Amino acid sequence: MIFRLVHSSYVLVFITLFVGKALGTDSNIFNSSFTPDHIEYLKNEAHDLFSHAWSSYMKYGFPADEVRPITCEPYGPDYEDNTNTARNDALGNTSSTVLDNLDTLIIMEEWDQLEQMLEYLYNNRDIFNQDTIVQVFEFSIRSLGGLLSAHLLLTDVTNSGVVPARYRRLQAISAAYDGFLLELAYDLGLRLIPAYKTSTRIPVPRINLAKGVLKVPTSLQRDACTSGATTPVMEFTLLSKLTGDPQFEHYTQLTFWKLWASKSPLNLLPMTIDPIANTWKDSLTGIGASIDSFYEYSAKASIIFNDNFMWSVFKTSYKALLTHSARGGGSFEGSMIFSNVGTNDGVSQSNWIDSLGAFWTGLQVLTGQLNDAIKSHLMYLKIWDHFESIPERWVYSHYTKGETLTSEDSIVLEWYPLRPEFIESTYYLFRATRDPMYLQIGERVLNLLKTKFKTKCGFNGYQDVRTGELQNRMESFVIGETLKYLYLLFDSKDESLLHTNLMSNKNWVFSTEAHPLWYNHKLTPSYMNSSKDADEVYNFRNPLYKRFLSMIKSEERLINSNEAVYFRNITLPSVPDNGIPKVDNLRKKDPFFDRFEQCETNPFNKCSGDKTFLKSGYYALDNLFSPDFTFKDSLMKPSYLSSTSLDGSYVELTKPFFDKFTMYGKQSDDSLFLQCSRPHDTEVFDLFMGNITEINEMEVSELYYDSKKTDKKDLIIIDGDLWVPELNALRVCIEKLRAGQVDTRNVLITQEYIQNMRQDDYNENGICLTSDGSSSKDTKGFIGKDIGVVLRITKINGLQVKPGMIIWTLPFEPHRPGPGKQSVIDVTSDGRVVLQGNVVENLMVWYD
Ligand SMILES: *[C@@H]1O[C@H](CO)[C@@H](O)[C@H](O)[C@H]1NC(C)=O
Ligand SMILES: *[C@@H]1O[C@H](CO)[C@@H](O)[C@H](O)[C@H]1NC(C)=O
Ligand SMILES: *[C@@H]1O[C@H](CO)[C@@H](O)[C@H](O)[C@H]1NC(C)=O
Ligand SMILES: *[C@@H]1O[C@H](CO)[C@@H](O)[C@H](O)[C@H]1NC(C)=O
Ligand SMILES: *[C@@H]1O[C@H](CO)[C@@H](O)[C@H](O)[C@H]1NC(C)=O
Repeated sequence: MIFRLVHSSYVLVFITLFVGKALGTDSNIFNSSFTPDHIEYLKNEAHDLFSHAWSSYMKYGFPADEVRPITCEPYGPDYEDNTNTARNDALGNTSSTVLDNLDTLIIMEEWDQLEQMLEYLYNNRDIFNQDTIVQVFEFSIRSLGGLLSAHLLLTDVTNSGVVPARYRRLQAISAAYDGFLLELAYDLGLRLIPAYKTSTRIPVPRINLAKGVLKVPTSLQRDACTSGATTPVMEFTLLSKLTGDPQFEHYTQLTFWKLWASKSPLNLLPMTIDPIANTWKDSLTGIGASIDSFYEYSAKASIIFNDNFMWSVFKTSYKALLTHSARGGGSFEGSMIFSNVGTNDGVSQSNWIDSLGAFWTGLQVLTGQLNDAIKSHLMYLKIWDHFESIPERWVYSHYTKGETLTSEDSIVLEWYPLRPEFIESTYYLFRATRDPMYLQIGERVLNLLKTKFKTKCGFNGYQDVRTGELQNRMESFVIGETLKYLYLLFDSKDESLLHTNLMSNKNWVFSTEAHPLWYNHKLTPSYMNSSKDADEVYNFRNPLYKRFLSMIKSEERLINSNEAVYFRNITLPSVPDNGIPKVDNLRKKDPFFDRFEQCETNPFNKCSGDKTFLKSGYYALDNLFSPDFTFKDSLMKPSYLSSTSLDGSYVELTKPFFDKFTMYGKQSDDSLFLQCSRPHDTEVFDLFMGNITEINEMEVSELYYDSKKTDKKDLIIIDGDLWVPELNALRVCIEKLRAGQVDTRNVLITQEYIQNMRQDDYNENGICLTSDGSSSKDTKGFIGKDIGVVLRITKINGLQVKPGMIIWTLPFEPHRPGPGKQSVIDVTSDGRVVLQGNVVENLMVWYD
């Protein structure tokens, strides 16, 4: 007998989560109206914040790298101590805030300031000739990216099409611009590229801008990270394409593909490298610091260079991360947290996530993974709810349970330098969904910037989120990213240059430092086309090249010219064809890679079916409050915040917003009671089957019928079932179901359900079912009665198994140690798989 599982419909509980905390008399503090006027008002407010930061820098900081926001002093490199890398990596006495914000001035339409800064740079074209040790990565993304972006904006935007009156000034400035920013970029590129000319082809992380790589103490060069080594590939490849000098592309691509070729059998890259010894220094990976922009740039470089190799790196990595790093096995929790895991075994290695990981949501939106993006963003929203910031490292799960924990216990790295990633991701989500909740989040961030982080001379972040101690620093990304994304979030009328028609025909992306970058063949200079002999072009025809030839010569001894140019062996694993059940018209497809081929629809459209714009789809998300339960030991406000937070409530429960954007919903929503699923009390765990290092050879496919004629009613297999040829090289998430529990799909498991699954008939095969003696929970009337356990696979090799779907596999040799003993793996007479005595409800063997 084979039967399908029919899930009882979702049971929803109504929980009063809104704590009716009295709002202060100034109930206007949250407008939350999001009328066109109000959004315009917020955009202007964001612009005011930008003006405050920029004018403070100009008044008290310029031409130094930064301004100190509390003490109003200029801030630059630590000349006393060149090992002070935390300070020196991004500061070169090179007016970093200017270089990082030329495009910001354009986006903010600050034409006078833009002209002034262009003039300043024009008169200081030796600005990079500084005897300072800087980080190649930081200078690539902040300064090189900033210069390239401004160059593109000044040469390839207002020169075609109809320019709106609003951008006539930009057009005039562009007309007067002679391309010198590209020369500056080229100068910087030539100063940085020697870091890549090592015998190992892995760059050393730091360089002395004036004196080269040899003037950097070796002790500063032993620790490189994957992001640092691979990320410059995008800015450097672009630099090559714009200048015609191929070396930047050559060396950075070499590194990129070399590192990718040394990924683990699980398709995971470690995070730390010793570039001199040519070895990985750890076997750990995740999505946060040290690896984040590797994924980001494999996707973004694929977009701007139309590079399918890069795109397959992203897709392969994304699948590996969903398989090994996405935490939890439930239907929802799966992708809220991406933890750090071992690259060789996929086993979780830490109990924290970091602030930088908040960028992931934006990348998910960009690559079309909208549902995943909403989930990963939710986790960071909860953190923001509790800390009004994102601590650099936050512990999501404590090893010691039951002890009295405080908010301090959950913060292992305590600073928050006003990093942009959370607001960046909020911007992406708003552009993709237009749900007012994302404006609401933006308004909250804006109000905190106004009331809490604004200082006399700029904006400061937290030195210590635990105590509220402030930091006397404003990094260039506060203006260049945090305030830029916030401003663009409120550009709902699409007036900002980036949102206008002038940009809509370009394959532009935001770099990891929020600089708009793009490329098309027309941007490559004509001398690239005019000679067949590449060497000749590169060495002699390019006027810029000659000027810096002497500098390259000094580094020449490091160059090993025998090496191949590109190493791009990323042959995707072949899919073994083990056949599928012989049913007419049954086909299979790759469920993972197919998700990148189709457009995901906005899930909020589905949610707010009644189509009123005055309704946020956000509240109809299942499990909106499940992180609050799941991570309740870690989500605790520090004591100083409870009194100072804007109105005491969480962002998504702010009363004015809630009143306005949920009141026109269906009858059942017309109240302050939120629909919320119950926290599950089932146990969820990971299980490895067979040899996990062979995971990339294992095919997991989705079954479907390719003809509508088939009468599907009588079929055992239905569209969406999964197929795995054998139970090897699988990583599965298992949920253990007992009568009386609520599962991760918010369904109450009944006694009948368990009994149905655990039919007596398996004993025909001599299988011994376990009875582990523990009694079920007594809350639902199952007191003392152990009727056993049923297992459910919720995720298999990174794929969520949808409710009601069955995973089919070919017959295998059961492992039965002997009569009366518990078998490791077995099959019931009706084809269901039994793992250590427990039936798996959705894993079945196909017999012809
Ligand atoms: C609320 O928004 C309006 C614009 O819609 C603005 O004039 C007013 O000052 C705002 N009030 C607060 C307290 O932000
Ligand atoms: C910083 O740069 C400025 C302008 O290029 C230069 O005059 C000054 O000497 C530099 N400071 C140091 C300490 O090198
Ligand atoms: C250079 O060649 C490419 C294709 O080979 C072409 O698309 C581009 O327009 C050419 N550039 C110039 C400036 O002629
Ligand atoms: C690329 O890798 C595949 C599989 O590892 C191998 O069979 C093939 O020979 C490699 N190709 C090159 C050009 O190295
Ligand atoms: C797992 O598979 C890999 C690759 O096929 C192989 O090298 C290794 O020996 C296998 N390990 C075990 C324990 O079978």
